[in-house]
Amino acid sequence: MTDTTSLYKKFEKDFKIGAAINHRTMYSAEKLIDQHFNSLTAENEMKFENLHPAKDEYVFNTSDEMVKFARKHNKAMRGHTLIWHNQTSDWIFQKNGKLVDSITLQNRMKDHIDTVVGRYKGKIYSWDVVNEVISDEKDTFYRNSKWYEIMGESFIEKAFDYAHKADSEAKLLYNDYNESDPIKRDKIYQLVNQLKEKHVPIHGVGMQAHWNIYDPTLDNIRAAIEKYASLGLEIQITEMDVSMFAHDDKRTDLTAPTEKMVEFQHERYLKFFEIFKEYSQHIGAVTFWGVADDYTWLDNFPVRGRKNWPFLFDHNQEPKDVLHKIV
Ligand code: XIL
Repeated sequence: MTDTTSLYKKFEKDFKIGAAINHRTMYSAEKLIDQHFNSLTAENEMKFENLHPAKDEYVFNTSDEMVKFARKHNKAMRGHTLIWHNQTSDWIFQKNGKLVDSITLQNRMKDHIDTVVGRYKGKIYSWDVVNEVISDEKDTFYRNSKWYEIMGESFIEKAFDYAHKADSEAKLLYNDYNESDPIKRDKIYQLVNQLKEKHVPIHGVGMQAHWNIYDPTLDNIRAAIEKYASLGLEIQITEMDVSMFAHDDKRTDLTAPTEKMVEFQHERYLKFFEIFKEYSQHIGAVTFWGVADDYTWLDNFPVRGRKNWPFLFDHNQEPKDVLHKIV
């Protein structure tokens, strides 16, 4: 029997349903993507090191291919990500073996953002402009990074300014993880609120939503959504996955999820979608950090070699029971 359900059609009036794709999964899961998702994000292919490996070298082959793929399938496309401490080529911070000064870095950042955002102007509806700059440490506000070390906090607003100049229609987001943790969410709120007060062109908050079957609590998720919504900005769930393992679970021997895991995940997904629906006025998109359990970055992270099963579609790309409860 052909399955005619569609996750994105179910929520068409509420928010987009997205998936992160890469140069392999876009083809290996093409049918599923087409049927269930209406927004796509490049998992790695638009990150700094991929697009801009050397000072005078931009490489757009794969990112262009993804943008074309999205157009062909009539899917909207998000951009991920412009300014981050990871997967960013070291050359941008260096000159003659030394760290560059702040103005040089600012100019290089501008060139990168102009070129990348400009290239996809009108084709990407939303950019994760700045990714993960808030610290996970209780008593520290910003994460330490080369961006921060060289430019101080000004790199954040500059990135938004440049992105807005390059595409004034694109929705510009601040994106982070542990976004539902009470201490971190207050810091994220404070950062975004400051930017807003300075009239920096920021239009939304990305909640990565790398969750698991126990954490965060539904109350904390709700509190985070309410807090970010109180800024009057759009919220996007940008990288959702629901790991089968608690943070301290380091087991590597499982070749399939246990019954209990499946049951917990099922319950959690139902609740998550209830919450998203309840706050749908504030939520523009719900993106999963992958498509189906046959491939997830969690297979290796944070425990190397461990298989995980975080999505609504199983390792055969078949819908899990909970999908039918959601649609
Ligand atoms: C991850 C990718 O999924 C992996 O393939 C890569 O090796 C590392 O990055 N937060 C983010 C994403 O903003 O870009 C990360 O993606 C996952 C955590």
